Amino acid sequence: MSGRTQEALYAEIDLELSWSEDELPQVERTKHVHSLHPYLGKFVPQLVEVFLTRYFSPGSCIYDPFVGSGTTLVEANVFGADAVGCDISAFNCLLSKVKTARYSLGELELALRGTLEEARRHVGSEPGQASEWLVRWYAPRALAELLAYREASQRLSPPYDDVARVVLSRAARSARLTKHFDLDFPRVPTTEPYHCLKHKRECRPVEEAWKFLVRYTSDTVRRLREFAALRADHEVVVLHEDARTVRLPLEPTGVITSPPYPGLIDYHEQHRYAYELLSLRDRREQEIGAAAAGRSKAALNAYIETMGEVLDNTASQMPRDAWALIVVNDSQNLYPAILENAGLLLEERITRHVNRRTGRRAGEFFEDVLVCRAA
Ligand SMILES: C[S@@+](CC[C@H](N)C(=O)[O-])C[C@H]1O[C@@H](n2cnc3c(N)ncnc32)[C@H](O)[C@@H]1O
Repeated sequence: MSGRTQEALYAEIDLELSWSEDELPQVERTKHVHSLHPYLGKFVPQLVEVFLTRYFSPGSCIYDPFVGSGTTLVEANVFGADAVGCDISAFNCLLSKVKTARYSLGELELALRGTLEEARRHVGSEPGQASEWLVRWYAPRALAELLAYREASQRLSPPYDDVARVVLSRAARSARLTKHFDLDFPRVPTTEPYHCLKHKRECRPVEEAWKFLVRYTSDTVRRLREFAALRADHEVVVLHEDARTVRLPLEPTGVITSPPYPGLIDYHEQHRYAYELLSLRDRREQEIGAAAAGRSKAALNAYIETMGEVLDNTASQMPRDAWALIVVNDSQNLYPAILENAGLLLEERITRHVNRRTGRRAGEFFEDVLVCRAA
């Protein structure tokens, strides 16, 4: 992408992959389980849908080494393919598993409603363990409600306990002491009323978590029901591993993925509340391209090397000539070197206009789809 002018980028864009808001409204982009929990940096599901129909057939097995919130797995399943996903972030693995697991829907609803009921009866009566971080980021009442729900959810059996953990995490995200317009990267807790840029009036920091637990319980059941009506009877495997070294239990027919971009997002920190509440294993030191590592020359070189290792490990477990579709925002033009170091040959580079949806001209945003084949 780097080195091309705006005009050149416009001339090259693939219109089938560059939807306007009318062509692809938000309600479609966030359909069923795709919005089970907020997640910064995810695919538009329709992008994966187009890749599947252009390059694969039902019965394939699709691998995503950076599975994130599980978009590839969900779409591959609906398409009629097996799917394997890997991620270094325990929370992302939990979310991907919850989206793609199979449930008895009646039991699921009863389990989640029962957990709410039990939590409500015990709020404040058995204060659970809370880290310093939790005490700092929640009003006392909100924290007591979250801890009571956590306690009640621990009595659930699999797979319902994991669904409750996702409901808890989503409620915890909304109940933090943040400003309404700053939910993605709040730096310090907000304890006083503030002028809200989102609602254009004075707002107060959130004091309770209960309304979120109730609202997200219903929303989760509804979204899982919608997906259950579409899902195919195919295998989905989620691996909490490092994509540089993971060994896959199924041989993939091909790959669809979007790697982390250097210096942009901290994927563990993004869901800090979940790590704190759910005692998830923190492997942030193995996160590739973390924002915390910055974009210095040394950081970019480390990125080139580690991404080369991921793609090499990935290609070595795929049949020769298998397709690998890699969506990148390669403003630093790092991918030619990365692909050269891995066993992947670049066949085509497709440019996509990302914010054609919003019609924004300032801050134009393009990304490339690297269409590769395993050598
Ligand atoms: C751009 S996101 C993928 C988003 C995904 N396409 C989706 O729709 O949700 C990149 C992912 O790479 C993961 N990641 C970073 N380093 C990794 C590593 N060493 N091994 C596996 N996954 C890693 C991050 O945790 C993050 O979830």
